[in-house]
Amino acid sequence: MSLEQFKLAQKYAALQQQHLDRYTQVIDQGVTPLVQRHGKTLINFSSNDYLGLASHPAVTAATVDYLKQHGIGAGAAHLVTGHHAIHEQLEQRLAQVTGYPKAMLFSTGYMANLGVIDALMGNLTDSKSGIVYQDRLNHASLLDGARLAGAQTGVRLRRYPHLDIAQLNQWLSQDSTEQKLIVTDQIFSMDGTEAPLPDLIKTAEQHQAALMIDDAHGFGLRTQPLPKVDVYMGTLGKAIGTFGAFVAGSELLINYLKSRARTFVYTTATPPLIAAGTLAALDVIAQEPWRQLKLQQHISRLRSALMAQGWELLPSQSAIQPIIVGSAEDTLALSAKLLEQGILVSAIRPPTVPRGTSRLRITLSAAHTDEHISHLISALAVHQALLR
Ligand SMILES: Cc1ncc(COP(=O)(O)O)c(C=O)c1O
Repeated sequence: MSLEQFKLAQKYAALQQQHLDRYTQVIDQGVTPLVQRHGKTLINFSSNDYLGLASHPAVTAATVDYLKQHGIGAGAAHLVTGHHAIHEQLEQRLAQVTGYPKAMLFSTGYMANLGVIDALMGNLTDSKSGIVYQDRLNHASLLDGARLAGAQTGVRLRRYPHLDIAQLNQWLSQDSTEQKLIVTDQIFSMDGTEAPLPDLIKTAEQHQAALMIDDAHGFGLRTQPLPKVDVYMGTLGKAIGTFGAFVAGSELLINYLKSRARTFVYTTATPPLIAAGTLAALDVIAQEPWRQLKLQQHISRLRSALMAQGWELLPSQSAIQPIIVGSAEDTLALSAKLLEQGILVSAIRPPTVPRGTSRLRITLSAAHTDEHISHLISALAVHQALLR
């Protein structure tokens, strides 16, 4: 037996040399807004817990109550005996809050994206190949979904430049394939920018293509009714503060996916206590609308302050506010300096983002106080002054 054939030592050394090696950072306790690491308290500007629900007392209480009564495990896959009444209740609630006829749970957003794209495009019984059109900055799981589908059939992946709907339209007009699926992040995970949904819906209709959106970073944060598309994917581990994901759509779509999405069929159902916590989190969102408003205030305030300081920001109105630094090395150095001041902001480097666009990915939460935001703004002002 030997791993030598894979040349891991050389490959890992190359990653280290380019400052692209990664490792896990241990959090001793806490989520948002504060965490403890190596005995130090840090303000966390790197979580996706946008509404501060990951440690909300009502969410915790609902989860613990369920745990005490029913234990931890689901016991089996959903299609065997792992689909508990609380899973069913959550699926019905998700259909209701999204305004779609039906919804189904997946263990993670990654699995939902793999499962849906593969089930739609990779399970062709009539052997007609299709094309999956994706924004160049789509999440890795969406790209991997198209790769998986393509591995079994002749399905092609075409990646249009970020938000370039004109290019997408041109390709859709030229391509003669019958099966066309447009897939996009609704809010782009590393940029915070938003897909132009009305244009995409119009495009899909014009070319008889199907449209799937991944609203991982928007679900739970929207105050307006959700857009109507063919496939809506939302995650539960970000604004909702718990874990997992779901897909919403027509009754036919969900019935089909329950039979054919392999990442749903061939895996153990998530612990039902997570569904109990998620239902409680959805209640909190309905009862505490101040959370969305507070988050919006933090976003506006941070953007104005950082623009005034001269930082290069992206056109993001979302809770994701990246600062583009450039090289991986400089980004790591800035992240380390902020850490000394009690601020935790991760450095995002290639291959997660394109080369030369390494960035600090600041994420805001309703759980941050005005003082936390002030502290971040003052710390960044010092570093901006040093860079000049
Ligand atoms: C846009 C997007 N889609 C999907 C996922 C995957 O979701 P999950 O963490 O539930 O696997 C993420 C992030 O994790 C994401 O940012």
